[in-house]
Amino acid sequence: MCGIVGYIGTQAATEILISGLERLEYRGYDSAGIATVLEGKLECVKAKGKLYNLREKLEHTVNHAQIGIGHTRWATHGKPEEHNAHPHLDSDTKVAVVQNGIIENYRELREELTSKGIEFSSETDTEVIPHLISQYLTNSNITLLEAVQKTITRLEGAFAIAVISADHPYELIVARQQAPITLGFGQGEFFCASDVTALLPHTHAVLTLENSEIARLTPLGVEIYTFAGERVSRFPRTLDWNPGQVEKQGFRHYMLKEIHEQPGVVRSSLETYLNPNWHADENPNFSPINLGLSSQLHENTDYIQIVACGTSWHASLIGKYLLEQLAGIPTTVDYASEYRYSPKPVIPNTLTIGVTQSGETADTIAALEMEQARRSKLDSKFQPQLLAITNRPESTIGQLCNHIINTQAGIEIGVAATKTFIAQVLGFYYLALDLAYHRKTLSNERITEIIDGLHHIPDSIEKTLETQDHAIEELAHEFTQETEDFIFIGRGINFPIALEGALKLKEISYIHAEAYPAGEMKHGPIALLDHKVPVVAVAMPGSVYEKVISNAQEAKARDARLIGVTSAMNATEAGTTFDDVLTVPEVEELLSPILAVIPLQLLSYHIAAIKGLDVDQPRNLAKSVTVE
Ligand code: F6R
Repeated sequence: MCGIVGYIGTQAATEILISGLERLEYRGYDSAGIATVLEGKLECVKAKGKLYNLREKLEHTVNHAQIGIGHTRWATHGKPEEHNAHPHLDSDTKVAVVQNGIIENYRELREELTSKGIEFSSETDTEVIPHLISQYLTNSNITLLEAVQKTITRLEGAFAIAVISADHPYELIVARQQAPITLGFGQGEFFCASDVTALLPHTHAVLTLENSEIARLTPLGVEIYTFAGERVSRFPRTLDWNPGQVEKQGFRHYMLKEIHEQPGVVRSSLETYLNPNWHADENPNFSPINLGLSSQLHENTDYIQIVACGTSWHASLIGKYLLEQLAGIPTTVDYASEYRYSPKPVIPNTLTIGVTQSGETADTIAALEMEQARRSKLDSKFQPQLLAITNRPESTIGQLCNHIINTQAGIEIGVAATKTFIAQVLGFYYLALDLAYHRKTLSNERITEIIDGLHHIPDSIEKTLETQDHAIEELAHEFTQETEDFIFIGRGINFPIALEGALKLKEISYIHAEAYPAGEMKHGPIALLDHKVPVVAVAMPGSVYEKVISNAQEAKARDARLIGVTSAMNATEAGTTFDDVLTVPEVEELLSPILAVIPLQLLSYHIAAIKGLDVDQPRNLAKSVTVE
């Protein structure tokens, strides 16, 4: 959600903080600020709006401070105004704090502090923290670390914080309770950031704090303690990412770059997870899929429940289709935010899957934690089996789950998920095929056929990008002025693609869009249609093709402008129904969602880009949603 960065070392901190925040801006972008300490004086600069406003403010100042913290905000408590921007300070301007998360009991703490005469200068939950730290420092003879530790015991909620103090110029304190924060290790310099993307230009040696851990960073090194004060011995790991991955590489936006990266993402995913030595006719004893799941999981899973949010929820709906149709396992998909408060009855032999590209989505994590807690109390057949499908195996979900499918899509910077969606969907193909193989719900010949089809997907995505990108850009011009609503329809395995097309469009173009199972239109939504409402139909050849075409005809009869996504083989025939046809190469229905989503990603991208909108950082959204 919000982005935190901190630095202590021998270089000037300001530029490191600002460029770190630039790399984190996708996490939140309604205001930003930094605080530094130099010669016993704390300096704090903040600006409302995007980060360049802060950069502009700092342009004519020289600051040699070698310690500092910075923050880019996504407002939770208090409007996005400068006085609510972080860092927040105590009344004496001695302590500065940045926070990501929510302090749930801030009202009580605020009342307590107000009754002691403390005046608040913001409406945020965060401001209680510097005031509390300051009180502990003033009233008892303790270190900064101890004062932060004491403060933390007063806080309820999920948060990560970084703290500096004018009176402790060689210490940066960092703490984590349910919200992610990672430390970076350089030569005589140390960093913290809420995402490793901010650390990449400086170091590849990183260590993610665990829950209830607090770290003291000095120019000499890093000490880590539990909140209870016990020293912890942990070692950094080495990131194998390169800074180029977080550059635009000539594309106008990260989203477009990430759409174009999809063939490569699929290729390397297939290389990782498909076993090249598997041949159906030899019928060897090993799976065609390298997921490393236990035989217990293969054999004893009677029921699967999936929790996710947003685009990951759409990927999960495709997952449900695959798990039920290929592996024959009853599967449910819930919004994580709903599941938490109305969980399914506890069923034995259940696999619970959390799907999240960031690995940090608070609702998804909380739903899994709840599931783990309630099952752990029961006997063995109810014990939690938690599987994460994530792009960040080192994240909170990675630490929580006993099985992980790493989607390996590389860093995704655009707030609208594209390549991570495709990679999640692939994760479900692997899981469904692996289970189907071990449970013998599919013949080896059918498995081979599906795997052969998967091998064609990277080339087919490439072809789709080559043939459709420009054509879709042309088409997009027609919807940038007066179009206020879009309807997307699809059926079967492609209904989730209609949902995904609608979500992509609304989140980046701000055009209202809804998706329906095509057959449901006539039960109500068809009343919305007239010549001003374009309808996009995902009409991939297969079992429901004719039905989708009929549903599209019903829309056409209400004067709707019809756009069809279909296979190139069908283009001529589809042209008799649709006003515009967006094509993908021929593909069997089971694999068609992976291709059908590409034209929809391009359509939403081009509409938003032509409208001149901030495609990579759409209003009100954040890449990593770490508040519930
Ligand atoms: C849409 C989008 C969001 C995320 C959702 C879940 O493009 O990016 O809807 O899919 O916030 O995020 P993760 O996958 O990180 O749990």
